[in-house]
Amino acid sequence: MTDMLRAPAEAKYAEELDWLESIDDGPKPFSWRLSPRMIRLFILGSERADGLDREISQKWFGDRSFVERSIVTLASDRGLLLIGDPGTGKSWLAELLAAAISRNSTLVVQGTAGTTEDHIKYSWNVSMVIAKGQSRASLIPSPIMTAMEKGVIGRFEELTRSTSDVQDALISILSEKYVSIPELDDDNIVFAQPGFSIIATANSRDRGVNDLSSALKRRFNFVRIPVVTNKKSEAEIVRFRTTELLRRHQIELDVPPNLLDILLQSFADLRAAAASATSDDEKLESALSTAEQIGVLEDAILHSTFFGDRRLKAETLAGSLVGSLARRSPEDLAILNKYWHGVVEPRSKDDGGEWPAFLEGGRQAIATLS
Ligand SMILES: Nc1ncnc2c1ncn2[C@@H]1O[C@H](COP(=O)(O)OP(=O)(O)OP(=O)(O)O)[C@@H](O)[C@H]1O
Ligand SMILES: [Mg+2]
Repeated sequence: MTDMLRAPAEAKYAEELDWLESIDDGPKPFSWRLSPRMIRLFILGSERADGLDREISQKWFGDRSFVERSIVTLASDRGLLLIGDPGTGKSWLAELLAAAISRNSTLVVQGTAGTTEDHIKYSWNVSMVIAKGQSRASLIPSPIMTAMEKGVIGRFEELTRSTSDVQDALISILSEKYVSIPELDDDNIVFAQPGFSIIATANSRDRGVNDLSSALKRRFNFVRIPVVTNKKSEAEIVRFRTTELLRRHQIELDVPPNLLDILLQSFADLRAAAASATSDDEKLESALSTAEQIGVLEDAILHSTFFGDRRLKAETLAGSLVGSLARRSPEDLAILNKYWHGVVEPRSKDDGGEWPAFLEGGRQAIATLS
């Protein structure tokens, strides 16, 4: 499992999941591999009060009510729709839930304008159909159909980007819980086994959440995932991801806590500025999500490792921040420039520390890009 670029959660945490399964004596819905309490524990991590022999790490950071509501939904007749801004951890939560419930988070359909009914039902292996005709053997089930047959969780990413045909097909899957294969004379219905459900995600910045048909909306419970604005939780998420990243790249590098603070502070400042902006031109194109913070830090870490002296410096961090957030020229650059003058400069005078180096690094990056 170590030679995968990115192992799915059930592989990455296999040992932890095995252990939780071995101590789990709670009632499990359907064919779930873990009870609801254990699933929550797996996702949110253990606390001392749980009285476990070992610590279970926290993997998703957010209010427990979201996790609980998601689990309850999946035990019900409805699908789960996780909605929120980009980078709020929707896909990651969906993956963790599927891994904990079914030990399989890879039955995923990606919603795009080009997604067709075949992608959520089935298609045919053409050469086999020519050789032997249409039969169950020449049928290629979609990930969703496979999930139905196995009684596990199927995932649908970016549901709102798919067309209404696809959405209609999904309605019938979610209500009838079977797919018929009219091309075949017999053995032509695939019934969902108990335990089958769907976790869909939708980005609230995409137009279209409201365009979901009301018939489809009724078949999902919505769980809205807010942007994390609490600095402490955000710091935890960034640290969690960074540790993982360093391990994955086998990089040994120190991320000084005061640089992490600077990163968190500048995102908080930029969000505040975006919130008070009156037009889109005064707002960065970036959603300034936690995921983007992680991206900035990753960039800075890799840069320091490849081209620096293996020490993360404030200048490098500033360069990565400007480089990642300046997407539109000149609008984004102007916003960043204003921020550097209006906020970073005074802060560097008042607070000192690493701020002056951050100021300088950002200035240079802005000048280079302008
Ligand atoms: N609350 C969180 N807990 C743990 N990790 C998080 C959280 N929010 C974001 N992340 C991390 O940020 C990265 C992006 O998250 P993810 O892809 O799940 O976002 P998303 O909400 O699906 O975004 P999009 O709408 O763009 O698809 C992941 O690496 C994820 O681990
Ligand atoms: Mg996603």
